[in-house]
Amino acid sequence: MISIAVSSQKGGVGKTTASINMAHAFARAGLRTLLVDADPQGSVGLSLTRQSRMLSGFYDYLADPGIPLERLLVPTRLETFTLVAAGQASDYEVGGAPTGAHLARVRGFLRAVEARGFDICLIDTPAGLFGLTADIIASSDAVLVPQQAEPLGIRSVPKMLEGLNRLRVIHPRLIVLGVLMTMVQNDMAESRESVNALRQLLPGDLVLRTMIPRDALFVKASARGLPVGVLEDGAGALAVFDALRAEIEAKLERSGHTSLRRDGSA
Ligand SMILES: Nc1ncnc2c1ncn2[C@@H]1O[C@H](COP(=O)(O)OP(=O)(O)OP(=O)(O)O)[C@@H](O)[C@H]1O
Ligand SMILES: [Mg+2]
Repeated sequence: MISIAVSSQKGGVGKTTASINMAHAFARAGLRTLLVDADPQGSVGLSLTRQSRMLSGFYDYLADPGIPLERLLVPTRLETFTLVAAGQASDYEVGGAPTGAHLARVRGFLRAVEARGFDICLIDTPAGLFGLTADIIASSDAVLVPQQAEPLGIRSVPKMLEGLNRLRVIHPRLIVLGVLMTMVQNDMAESRESVNALRQLLPGDLVLRTMIPRDALFVKASARGLPVGVLEDGAGALAVFDALRAEIEAKLERSGHTSLRRDGSA
């Protein structure tokens, strides 16, 4: 199994939107996909399952790893797409726990997910790079960093990447998939320039080729509790997230992870 944390220094950059639609793309491609809402604000759960507040979820498992994983799994209309809601989070877990405090339990959770037969696990984390979020990243195979394409926003990216490099001291095999530009507006010079500036600032292919355009459809989709691809006019967005899935799979393969192959050879 491959686990990917979706994380950013700043809030509101499109992590949850990217997580939901990426998970949908992986699931549509036939991979047994688990999307974990690790954000106590619970937006994945909120948007995808109506009664998510009542569900036991990721935070309940952190508090009591004796809970069987099975009890946390929420099926969707797509057979290959399963969710884990955030559940009930305590203040300690959300903001008060020092980095490292949850490492063992997050790793235990991911082992249980793997043992259950999932091919890929996407984890939508709270913003920031400390405490539980740092533990989730340090427990994952890879991390993806969404960033809104706007001039002020991109300033935080180098700091985030520095932080990720520090995490690699405790987790040397962590794959930094790179920065995913979100809410890109090609008709706006500032948006285009912020993408170009980041590409010049960062080495190699650290800014993903695939970019998520700003589109009101994403807001509509969240309001209806759906990945954007299932909306009537969502074909364009579907293609974007399929391209993102392919780009991520290629990056993982270059890093030596072949377990996402669907031909049964892995
Ligand atoms: N590509 C997009 N086009 C238009 N609106 C978008 C797009 N991506 C996200 N949004 C909207 O921007 C807002 C923030 O997105 P989202 O909740 O995904 O960010 P986040 O990083 O998860 O935020 P938080 O840090 O609060 O968890 C939401 O209202 C969402 O609907
Ligand atoms: Mg979010």
